[in-house]
Amino acid sequence: MKNKQNIVLIGFMGSGKSITGKLLAYRLGYNFIDTDTAIERENNRKIRDIFQNDGEETFRQLETATIEKLAQKSHQVISTGGGVATKEKDMQMLRQNGIIIALTAMPQTIFKRTNNDKRPLLAKKNNADRLKTIIELMAKRAPFYKKADLIIRTDDTTPLQNVELILKYLKGIK
Ligand code: S3P
Repeated sequence: MKNKQNIVLIGFMGSGKSITGKLLAYRLGYNFIDTDTAIERENNRKIRDIFQNDGEETFRQLETATIEKLAQKSHQVISTGGGVATKEKDMQMLRQNGIIIALTAMPQTIFKRTNNDKRPLLAKKNNADRLKTIIELMAKRAPFYKKADLIIRTDDTTPLQNVELILKYLKGIK
């Protein structure tokens, strides 16, 4: 795996980062870290509470601060929140010691997977609004997700299949 010691999963909400990341960490014997969970632990607050009371900008700053700490550790599979890939500063820190893998899916797939969702950015009045938000936000973010070292489309794969694809890729670049 060259000298890079972390595997970083990026991608839209509902692309399968957490489940794939947990399974991958198990297979590699690495720690699994979810940036949202780390932010909640460090600040002793729920993501939803941060968004509601302080707004997205504050959330993004806390997210960057958490990533700065995580990026310095090794042997981790880091599952990032969907917005991380759009922040160059965060990605630069993660890239220094990490292989970046993007999980992608079609908006309709994301729509189905995020049904009954508690994520602040997808908490919309109705399904039409939610789908519209997914399509628009994904279009904005797609160019950032494309910068990954490896891109996996997860519409028709299981998390275990994603893991196999990632392991095969890592073997190939050893
Ligand atoms: C966000 C994605 C969420 C979380 C926050 C913002 C985003 O993480 O960080 O709600 O901007 O796409 P997941 O991608 O793990 O759902």
